[in-house]
Amino acid sequence: MNLNFPPTLEWRGDHLRLLDQTKLPDEESYLEIRNVAQLCDAIQRLVVRGAPALGCAGAYGVILCYREACRCRGLPKDTFRYLTGELAAARPTAVNLRWAVERVAKRIEPFEKYDAAERERRLEAEARAIHDEDRAMCEAIGRHGAELLPQTHATLMTHCNAGALATGGSGTALAVMYAAQAAGVALKVFADETRPLLQGARLTAWELARAGIGVTVICDNMAASIMRREKPDAAIVGADRIAANGDVANKIGTYGLAILARHHGVPFYVAAPSSTFDPSLKSGAEIPIEERARAEIARPYGAHTVPDGVDVFNPAFDVTPAELVTALITERGVLRPPYEQSIAAMMRTQPA
Ligand code: MRU
Repeated sequence: MNLNFPPTLEWRGDHLRLLDQTKLPDEESYLEIRNVAQLCDAIQRLVVRGAPALGCAGAYGVILCYREACRCRGLPKDTFRYLTGELAAARPTAVNLRWAVERVAKRIEPFEKYDAAERERRLEAEARAIHDEDRAMCEAIGRHGAELLPQTHATLMTHCNAGALATGGSGTALAVMYAAQAAGVALKVFADETRPLLQGARLTAWELARAGIGVTVICDNMAASIMRREKPDAAIVGADRIAANGDVANKIGTYGLAILARHHGVPFYVAAPSSTFDPSLKSGAEIPIEERARAEIARPYGAHTVPDGVDVFNPAFDVTPAELVTALITERGVLRPPYEQSIAAMMRTQPA
């Protein structure tokens, strides 16, 4: 799909170029990432964010880990392991980051088997493969998801940003919208602003408007009224990690939207690639939930909104129980309950 967006991330041979998402929608500017500390910092500040994009950034980051390990004193193998460990842990909830870092790092095991040039070649080839696969997964998710929507007009809701900015391709939840639009469906999308960092207002609205899709930003607490008034055809969101039983970790507020969708009889779809599934976890209770800084809530964009000394709780994600999810849209097809079985069967199939 040709969306004509600036690339979210781009490997340039000796460094990683990231579109700085903290600056959107005001500014399209880039950060040139040349070492592991810079990449971890960019990941933690959400310069690059969204589970699949974190996976792609982490994959290229392993090349930086290797080069840095070779420049350091001591055994490159030990330093490489330490640096990849730091990178994989930069954000804990999206499983794609650890999955991609480990997958790329494995390509030079056993370390002694390859010379330096071969190690570099193998790392770069694997990172590029992850990025290419991610693009293809987005396209397939879009196709499968669009088939679930009405053929002429659809009103949709979404939360956070699960679009091109959050992946190495066209997105997950938003890929469904782009595919539906390409098939001639007239879309009206309500995007939750997504407190506290406004990924919906800043990023989803930026993407959809650029793609010519009618988007209206609402405050998160307006979602119930919009559901009653507009009777949307579906709510579609992305995911950071999906457990073996179908419980879904995604941006804080997703759980609330799922409850509202159930109450109003609106189908609630979660769009995610197989790289976001973590079958090693039985349920969402085992998913680590990132807690972020007080200042994001108490002093957003420089303004003081909470009195000094008052506690603030800032979990970045919540877990939506599988029973609230109508279907999971993956690149390998649409999964329905019971999810233990459909997820296990999907994970066994090879990509087409
Ligand atoms: O904190 P963020 O912006 O990284 O959170 C992103 C989300 O919650 C997305 O919905 C999720 O990663 C899926 S992106 C295709």
